[in-house]
Amino acid sequence: MNKYFNILLLFLAMSVQAVAERLTIQSKGISLVIDAEKGHEPTFVYFGPKLVSASDIQPPRSGRMGLYPAYGLNTPTDAALSVRHADGNMSTTLHVTGYDTRSESNGTITTVWLKDPVYNLSVALRYRAYRDVDMIETWAEVTNGERGTVTLTQFASGMLPIRRGDVWLSHLYGSWANEGIVAEEPLLAGQKVIANKDGVRNSHTAHAEVMFSLDGKGRENEGNVIGAALCYSGNYKLRVTTDDTEYHYFCAGINEENSAYHLKRGETFTTPPLALTFSSEGLSGVSRNFHKWGRMYKLAHGDRPRDILLNSWEGVYFDINEAGMADMMREIAGMGGELFVMDDGWFGDKYPRDNDHTSLGDWVVNKRKLPHGIDGLLHEAKKNGVKFGIWIEPEMANTLSELYERHPDWVIKASRRPEVLGRGGTQVVLDLSNPKVQDYVFYVVDNLLSRYPDIAYIKWDANMSIMNHGSQYLSVDNQSHLYIAYHRGFESVCQRIRAKFPDVVIQACASGGGRANWGVLPYFDEFWVSDNTDALQRVYMQWGTSYFFPAMVMASHISAVPNHTVFRTTSLKFRIDVAMSGRLGMEIQPKNMTAWEKNLCKKAIAEYKEIRPVVQLGDIYRLLSPYDKRGVASLMYVDEAKDKAVFYWWKTENFQNEHLPRVRMAGLNPNKLYTVRELNRIDNNPLDCEGKSYSGAYLMSQGLDMPYTHDVDYNKKSDWSSRVLYLIAR
Ligand code: GLA
Repeated sequence: MNKYFNILLLFLAMSVQAVAERLTIQSKGISLVIDAEKGHEPTFVYFGPKLVSASDIQPPRSGRMGLYPAYGLNTPTDAALSVRHADGNMSTTLHVTGYDTRSESNGTITTVWLKDPVYNLSVALRYRAYRDVDMIETWAEVTNGERGTVTLTQFASGMLPIRRGDVWLSHLYGSWANEGIVAEEPLLAGQKVIANKDGVRNSHTAHAEVMFSLDGKGRENEGNVIGAALCYSGNYKLRVTTDDTEYHYFCAGINEENSAYHLKRGETFTTPPLALTFSSEGLSGVSRNFHKWGRMYKLAHGDRPRDILLNSWEGVYFDINEAGMADMMREIAGMGGELFVMDDGWFGDKYPRDNDHTSLGDWVVNKRKLPHGIDGLLHEAKKNGVKFGIWIEPEMANTLSELYERHPDWVIKASRRPEVLGRGGTQVVLDLSNPKVQDYVFYVVDNLLSRYPDIAYIKWDANMSIMNHGSQYLSVDNQSHLYIAYHRGFESVCQRIRAKFPDVVIQACASGGGRANWGVLPYFDEFWVSDNTDALQRVYMQWGTSYFFPAMVMASHISAVPNHTVFRTTSLKFRIDVAMSGRLGMEIQPKNMTAWEKNLCKKAIAEYKEIRPVVQLGDIYRLLSPYDKRGVASLMYVDEAKDKAVFYWWKTENFQNEHLPRVRMAGLNPNKLYTVRELNRIDNNPLDCEGKSYSGAYLMSQGLDMPYTHDVDYNKKSDWSSRVLYLIAR
């Protein structure tokens, strides 16, 4: 009794002493305001455009605006954190004990210190606000100061209340070969959950990034929009709860399902960051915020334009041999490319990698296919003046591999049961929770790059989910740590690789676009958007992907027709024009191309080199969405000075004599005069706007009419037309 009486006194004392403390966290153009009154739960006050005056705040009238609500003393509401304390108590409340702000080179970190008044469990809520980009990252650090182990059953990175109105959610969904598809829906009563449970890859079926358009269905270049991205490579859960209050409650973090986390005494659990942004310039405005922040602070080599490459996969699949690789290197060099990447099929000694049934884990050159080894390939690359890259899938093994024979204990499997097998009927996932496996995965990369320092590029693939729950390394009690420990292990390996090899370019591939997220991008330079290289479907996938990721990370390759996935035949011009809106590459057997086709690609590569800084480092303005089904899709990139812009126009349907809208441009300087030059031109006659100059004002209010068909010889006619215009201010 006495104990509880003392606690009551303590509460009273704290509330008497409590002083209302309002914290304003400022990023470049956005503010986050919170109340952090000591002895009380911290509450959310405001998130939006930067406040001009401190009096500009009318605090929310809703009763429950917890900033990081813990489960147990107001059980009907949504919780960010749920804890089973060492003594079994399932209730937690977190009160402010203090806060501070310290400067960093790029902004500030504000910490709100929270503690349960009864239990020795504390949380540091962090807010990193960038000075020169519109982004605030938030995460939580939960520390167990109790006598025994506590169990975390929910551990979100952050929660953001969003005022009800006509709020629309934009998010990406899809599946293999159809990644990055845009979904837009109003937030209605109830709960919307976006989750991933793959275990390894997390962006095939859904994405950990969302946008909230606050004033009705999102528009590209106007309207108030909040953007959020959970920067994590593993399982996530994003949920929006709309209850009987005036707010939607957005909560994002690691997916807690089957992942209860036992936090030992003295240990701290750190959640991944949740990046939050706001723009009053619509969906494209939020995209520009993500892109800028990403290029400046998140992405590996975000300031370095990417090379134009040929990847061998769709050209030769597993049929790797020295002569074939040499041919491809010569061909890509001849077309002006800068890098050649040898994909799957080059490795395996006892088990040669001739198909997907064997060899993952045996990262030794197959001498039958490549008698002169990697040295021979590097020599050939040098001779042709191109860089050389190589494919690996280091997190995986096949049961038919020497690695598996040596270390069956390294694979993820449920105890007392056989492994569940993946690709090729033999694939298994290595258990990255095991430090020995981490060392091994690091060794795979270290060995390659140390022995062959001229390898400039790695395509790092991951083609399987964690299908069966079970770690042969984790203790019986900690089996539920598997998903989290896997990604901590993965990140730690990536950090070691980057510490030793800061310059190598690494692509994140995961059965196509399975690893398009801001959790991996600090270590990776780009990702493979999709195994589907069909240009028409790519318009849709790249459109969605561009919501959150800049063009420089979107590997986008010209491939053969009929397309190997959808069997559609589009014109080479159309395939080039689509690929040129991302990080341009080729995924084709050049031997099978005609001289005319090679020439067109050569010209496109030369022209892409001219526009590369604008596409890869410029600002995106999406103009007309393919999802609007108007028969055409269009977007543009504009450089920072608004001196150069690249305009893309792709037909998405083809009917004779259809009527298409004229597309108005955006992002230009209204007072500058821009001269038009068509790129990748195949028409016999120039466009009527070729060489002419138009003011930014005119281009943005009227746009330019594009002919709906190409003016070409009969044998070059195609039902797909597209245009790319380069605009240069005079
Ligand atoms: C995955 C990738 C492809 C290719 C193959 C190789 O499917 O997404 O690009 O690298 O593996 O097996």
